[in-house]
Amino acid sequence: MSVADWNPRSWRGLPALQQPEWPDPAALDDAIGRLAKLPPLVFAGEVRNLTAALAQVADGKAFLLQAGDCAESFDDFSAASIRDKLRVILQMAVVLTYGAGVPVVKMGRIAGQFAKPRSASTETVDGAEIPSFRGHIVHGDAATPEARVADPERLLHAYHQSASTMNLVRAFTKGGFADLTQVHKWNQEFVKQSAEGERYERIASEIDRALRFMAACGIDLGAEASLHEVDFWTCHEALLLGYEEALTREDSLDGGWFDCSGHMLWVGDRTRQLGGAHVGFLTGVENPVAVKVGPSATADDIVELGERLNPMNIPGRLTFISRMGAGRIAELLPPLLQAGDKLGFTPVWVCDPMHGNTFLAPTGRKTRRFDDVMAEIQGFFSACTTEDVWPGGVHIELTGENVTECLGGSDDVLDTQLDDRYLTTCDPRLNARQSLDLAYRVAELLRN
Ligand code: PEP
Ligand code: CO
Repeated sequence: MSVADWNPRSWRGLPALQQPEWPDPAALDDAIGRLAKLPPLVFAGEVRNLTAALAQVADGKAFLLQAGDCAESFDDFSAASIRDKLRVILQMAVVLTYGAGVPVVKMGRIAGQFAKPRSASTETVDGAEIPSFRGHIVHGDAATPEARVADPERLLHAYHQSASTMNLVRAFTKGGFADLTQVHKWNQEFVKQSAEGERYERIASEIDRALRFMAACGIDLGAEASLHEVDFWTCHEALLLGYEEALTREDSLDGGWFDCSGHMLWVGDRTRQLGGAHVGFLTGVENPVAVKVGPSATADDIVELGERLNPMNIPGRLTFISRMGAGRIAELLPPLLQAGDKLGFTPVWVCDPMHGNTFLAPTGRKTRRFDDVMAEIQGFFSACTTEDVWPGGVHIELTGENVTECLGGSDDVLDTQLDDRYLTTCDPRLNARQSLDLAYRVAELLRN
């Protein structure tokens, strides 16, 4: 399929992996038809601005912080949980900007991050085989055959939840909450008492002083929009192609197709086949796109994906997200970085230190060690330095809540504590303290 033959439905002629089994195809078509009539969640102009911001990242002039839930939940959905997630991402961005002096492009795995690819299509629970959990956009998470029946009405539920999430995110980031003069208020009570929280308070006080100094010099801080609001972008894995198709719209001003379900979309490590429907779908939308690359990715994959997804060599259009595992990144990433160098454009390289470092704790909980997460980031920075490639960002699964899902960090979550507050709908997330701790360490790597 060439770009000329592309339309939002043309992925249907290609093999699409990781799609749920919808028991009633007519009901699915009906839901997709209704979605296609609903307003877009993001706008073409915003998406173009994000591509420009990512071009700065590709050029070594900015750093991408991409973070949020593994899977958003229909149950844990409230103003408080959105605010807490935003708050920890803003705190991390302050630490990175202040600590490393680099502008940070802030992006949430939010307002659309519902669908999950799975390694196995079924799981065995109490001796019974049931479909694996693929996210609340598909079915319920309870471990029963009834809950795991795919229900197309959930696509509409996910859309409406994304719309209200987006609305609150826009209000928070443009309406005063993200104002730099509020920087102290982002520190939550349970974080404040910790070493990371105290360190954050010191940075916040220094920022206050710098702002007072500028005001005393006669700079009109009120007129500086960049101090009072932030650009916050959304992203998710473009996994359920019917949903993405329904939200893909032609730009009424300048033409071109935009997937208006989120600003940036990525294709997962399990669905990045060159001839597959996911890559085929993303070739035709003008959003910036990303591809996750795990241990099976080859140098040829990088070249072919690069040429396929960015044939016009548009700066900022394509990001590769490496997720190799701490033990293997030093061996596996350098050939991919070298292959990226052969493209007619500079891709953004981002490190996902989460998905290659997951294991089962003795309690049976899926978890990750903070030290492995940091080791992979260090491996990423050193591979980038050796290959003379800008380490463009990090991709983190986190929550603003005080969960016990990942082991270690400065408050040293132990495997015996995983059950205390293990709340994730899918993969284990860093809690707010572990996330801040990570930001200090990444700022240090960036400084060096
Ligand atoms: C994810 O980001 O949640 C995910 C499933 O990633 P990957 O495709 O890298 O496994
Ligand atoms: Co995940």
